[in-house]
Amino acid sequence: MMRTWPVPPDKSARAMCTVWFRPCRRSGRPTGHLILSQSSSRWLGEDGPASRGSSRTGDSCRCLALGLGNSGACRTWRSLGRVRMGRRNAVDGQTPTIRGEREPKAGDAGAEEIDADAQLDSVVPSRIRSTNPHHQPRKLTARQREAFRQMSVQSREAKLRAIQGEVEPLHEINVPKLDPYDLMPQRESNRLRALSLFSGGGGLDLGFDRAGFSHVASYEILGHAAETLKRARPNWVVNGNQDGDVTSAKWTSLSGEVDIVHGGPPCQPFSIAGRQKGADDTRDMWPELVRCIRAVKPRAFVAENVPALASKKFAPYVQSQIIDMLSYRYHIKMLMLRAEDFGVPQIRRRVVFVGFARKKDAVRFVPPAATHRWGDSQLEFTENLERCMGAREALGLPDIGFDALSPTIRSSLTGPRHTTSILNSVAAQRTFEALQIWPNGVAATREKARAYVANNGHFRLSVQDVAVLQGFPEDWPFDGATYMQLGQLGNAVPPPMGYAVASSVAAAFEA
Ligand SMILES: C[S@@+](CC[C@H](N)C(=O)[O-])C[C@H]1O[C@@H](n2cnc3c(N)ncnc32)[C@H](O)[C@@H]1O
Repeated sequence: MMRTWPVPPDKSARAMCTVWFRPCRRSGRPTGHLILSQSSSRWLGEDGPASRGSSRTGDSCRCLALGLGNSGACRTWRSLGRVRMGRRNAVDGQTPTIRGEREPKAGDAGAEEIDADAQLDSVVPSRIRSTNPHHQPRKLTARQREAFRQMSVQSREAKLRAIQGEVEPLHEINVPKLDPYDLMPQRESNRLRALSLFSGGGGLDLGFDRAGFSHVASYEILGHAAETLKRARPNWVVNGNQDGDVTSAKWTSLSGEVDIVHGGPPCQPFSIAGRQKGADDTRDMWPELVRCIRAVKPRAFVAENVPALASKKFAPYVQSQIIDMLSYRYHIKMLMLRAEDFGVPQIRRRVVFVGFARKKDAVRFVPPAATHRWGDSQLEFTENLERCMGAREALGLPDIGFDALSPTIRSSLTGPRHTTSILNSVAAQRTFEALQIWPNGVAATREKARAYVANNGHFRLSVQDVAVLQGFPEDWPFDGATYMQLGQLGNAVPPPMGYAVASSVAAAFEA
C-alpha cells in the first residue's frame, strides 16, 4: 500500500523516517501518522517535538499528513514502517512527497473513522480574523477550537444566568485592605517638569505626579488610554490618537522646557511572550524615544521596559540603540526593579534606564531602595521594611491559610479577541488556583463579579481588583470596555514603582 503526503516546503534533505500510527481507542485501527526523522529535525517543521516516549532514535519528530498534535498519547503509537522522504524540487519549487508503506486504503474498514478523526485533528485557522497584524494565532485543531467554542457558549450562558439572578453568589463583596495611595504619599511640588511619552493608562505618569513632578504634556496613541489620563487629570495636556503619535511629533519646541522625559516604549518587540524581533519589529519605538530625548535635551530621562530587554540577547540592541545614541550627553544607569519591593502585591519585574545630563546628578543618584519585603527568607536584612501584602490580603479576601503575590498580570490588547483574562502562563494558572482566585472573565465591577459565580467557586476579579494588584488606586478612571481597561492595566508600570524611581531622580537633583 502506498500513500503520499506533502513535505513541508523548506526541507531539502532526503531522509529515511519511521511512520507511526496512533490506534483508535475503540477500534484499534490507525487514526493518524507521525513521521519520525532518522537523521535530524531539519525537515520537520509543523508542530514541535513529540513526546519523548515516541522517539526511538532520539531525534525530534513532528506530526504530518493527518495533522495530529503531539501529546502523551504518542506513547501508544505503533510503527507502520519506514518511509523515504522526497527531495525538494529546487528547480520549479513543486511540492515533493513522502511515501509510506502499509497505509490503510480508502474503503478499508475504519477508513471513514480515520478521515473524520483526521479532519477534527487537523490544524484549522480561527474564524475570527485578527485586526492586529502582529498577532500570532495559536495552532489549534478543529477539535480544540470546538472545545473552546463550547466553553465560551457555556460561560456566556452562565453569565446570563448570573445577570438574571438565577445563581446564588458565593462571596461577599470584598473591601480591599491595600490602598495604593498609601504606597505613594503625595509629595509637594518639586517644580520639575516632565514630558511623558507612551503614557498608556498612566502608570508612570501617576507615579511622577505623586512624586511632585508636573507634566508639560503626555503622548499616547491609543484613544481610550489618553481618555483615561484626561479623565484622571483634566488640567493636563494629553495628546491622544493621531495627536498622541510620537512618530509625528516635533519636539524642538519643547527644547529647554522639560526637566525630565519619561516613557515606556511598547514592550512586545522584546517580551518573551512574543517573537522577540527587537529592532526588526515595526512596533519598536525606542528610536522615537531617543529622538525625543536628543531634541528636547532634558536634564534627565527615565525609560522602562520588560526585563527581557536586559537579557544577553538584546545586549547589542541596548548598546547600539540606547547607550551609544544617548551617552554623548547622558550618564546612564540600568536598574532592575521588582514591584513587590514597593508594596505592590504582584510578581512584576521592570528594567529601567535612568540618564542624567550632569555628572554630579548622576553621581548623587541612588537607585530606589525597597520599602517593602515579601516573605521572610531574608528577614535579617529586611526586618525594617514594611511587609508587602499577598494578593488575597490586598484584596481583602478571607484567610484560607495561603497567600501569594499575584502572578504577573498579562499585557493584552494584542490578540484578535477582546480578552478579559489576566492570565499569563500555565504557572500563573496554578498560583491563581492555589489562591482560589479566578483570573478569567474579569468583571466590570465588584457587584458583577460577585453575581457571576465562577465554575470552580473561586473568587472572580473585577477591574478594580486588578487595579489594586497593579498598584493603581481604586478611583483611577480607566476608560473603555472591560478588556480595554484591563489592557491599559496590564501594560502599565505599577505606579508605586514609578513613584519610587521618580522620587530618587528628584532627590538626585535636590541634593
Ligand atoms: C508599555 S505601554 C506604556 C505604559 C505606561 N508607561 C504606563 O505606565 O501605563 C506602551 C504604550 O505605548 C503606546 N504607543 C505605541 N505606539 C505609540 C506611538 N507611535 N505613539 C504614542 N504612543 C504609542 C501604546 O498604545 C501603549 O499604551
